[in-house]
Parts: sequence; C-alpha cells; structure tokens
Amino acid sequence: MADSPATGMGASDWASDFFGTLNEMPADAVTGIGGILEAMSTLPAFRDARQWVLRNLRLSQGASVIEAGSGNGASLADALAIVGTNGRIAGIDPTLAFVDSARRRAAALGAANVRYEVGDIRAIAARDGEFDAAFCDKVLIHAGPAGAALAEMARVTRAGGSIGAIEWLPFFAVSSTRPDAVDAFNAVFKRAVYDYFVSANLARHFMAAGLTDVRTEAFLAHTDNLDAHPFWRAFIVHQMPMFVHVGLIDEAVAQAFLADIESLNARRAFSASFIVQAAVGMKTEGHR
Ligand SMILES: C[S@@+](CC[C@H](N)C(=O)[O-])C[C@H]1O[C@@H](n2cnc3c(N)ncnc32)[C@H](O)[C@@H]1O
Repeated sequence: MADSPATGMGASDWASDFFGTLNEMPADAVTGIGGILEAMSTLPAFRDARQWVLRNLRLSQGASVIEAGSGNGASLADALAIVGTNGRIAGIDPTLAFVDSARRRAAALGAANVRYEVGDIRAIAARDGEFDAAFCDKVLIHAGPAGAALAEMARVTRAGGSIGAIEWLPFFAVSSTRPDAVDAFNAVFKRAVYDYFVSANLARHFMAAGLTDVRTEAFLAHTDNLDAHPFWRAFIVHQMPMFVHVGLIDEAVAQAFLADIESLNARRAFSASFIVQAAVGMKTEGHR
C-alpha cells in the first residue's frame, strides 16, 4: 500500500501487539480474552468513558457510526440507545471469533441496522465521509500507529462529524507489601502492549490528524475489594498463569504478588486503581 499523502505513513509503519494476532491463537485463549473484554466493558470507568465518548460524538437518532476495533460488540447497546433502530451502526475488527460474537450479539438484540465485518482500523473498507462519526475503544494501545488509525477514522467520517477514542494506562496503583512484585506486575503491560502511553497522548494525536475542537476526559477505576466487580479478579488474578507462560513475569514473583494481594483483600486492606482516558474531536470542512 502506498504511503498516505496526508500522514506520510504507509503500511510499513503498521505494528500491533498480541491483539493483532488473535486469529492465530488457540480458540480457548481467544474465548478467555473475550471474557475479559466483556468484564472490562461493564467496569464503571470503562463504561462511563465509552458513554462520554458516544454522547460527545454529537449523534442523534437516525445517525450512522462506525466502531473501529469493535471486538465482541460490547458497545452495541450504548450505540443503539443513541442512534436508534433507524440509525446505522458498523463495526470492524480483524479477529474472526470476535466478529462472529458481535454478530450474535446484534442478532440477540434484534438489531437489523448493525453490520460487523472483518477489517483493520488503518485501512477501513468504507467510502470517504460515509459515517456521521467514528470511534475506537482500547484499540490504539494495541495497534497503530495512532496517526494512521485516526487518519482512517477521519477519512470515513463526514465533514462536520466527530471522532472519538477511549484508552487506558494499564498501570495499577495496587496495595501490596511487595513493591518489587507490583513493579514486576505493572511491567507485564508495559512490555506486552504496542503503545503503552497512548491514553495520555490522545489530544496530541487528534490534533496531528487535523481534528479540531479536541476535548479530553479522564475516568478513575478503583476498588477496595478484588471481588467487587468481575474485572478485577479476571484481569489481575486469572490472567497471571498466561503472563507467566509467555515469560512476561517470573512465576515465583507472580505467586508472591497474588498471595500478598489475596491476603490484603481477605483483611479488607486491599485497593487497586488505574485511569481511563478519552478524547473527541471534530472533522471540519476542508480537513486535510
Ligand atoms: C482490547 S480489545 C477492545 C475491543 C472492543 N473495542 C471493546 O472495547 O471491547 C482490542 C481490539 O482491537 C482489535 N484489533 C487488533 N488489531 C486491530 C487493527 N489493526 N484494527 C482494528 N482492530 C484491531 C482486536 O481484535 C480487539 O478486538
């Protein structure tokens, strides 16, 4: 693919982390990741960030919107609530199992105005200006460069339409008597993801993509109980054997960390927090 005249970037710049290779992974691993995404989607910080973006895309009933990197279609109910059954919702994602699962979700909701297709955020199969808005949720951290993804989302959005993104910094401010183990746990994500700090750079990327009226917001995820919401145990505890298996953390350190947080949790001396960040911007007439 030739370099984009707008960004100077081409497919040779594209890269992603393990989230770009899920089609090659065993089905049960992908199902497990799908379960984590489902838990993430209802955690208040992620849910609030998604709803903030959807509200600020300035969509009304009957509007059209595309989610790039739509996963299992976790945003569908929120998007439907805004554009209604007379609107149009599209989702693209490279992971076949997620596209199937998103299609099943749309069918279960009886949503006939929804299409999920296999696709890539950096080369969206849609016409210029085809949608009123485009957004992505927890994708730029895994695949990019962000500039190429935002340029494509802007291309398929009409002039006057909006673009949004939700990202998070996977740094857990977590209680522990073992600061060394907390460092090792947080290092897992810094090593595993494609663009660790993208959440803090959304405004910069949006402006570089030629978007205007850029606004950002932050949402705090916090708990004082590992079992207060399924996300916490699923993400921190249940994924640990996989992190050990792929060499992201030493097994003894991982076990010490988990034993420590379980003990603190049992004594009600546990807490964990991280931040989710979101941005919206507008595509103006004459957008380059
Ligand atoms: C953390 S998940 C988020 C999924 C969904 N947005 C959600 O919030 O549940 C990241 C998603 O990015 C998708 N992905 C990976 N590489 C991509 C790419 N190049 N273009 C679009 N999506 C991509 C993965 O298949 C996965 O569904």
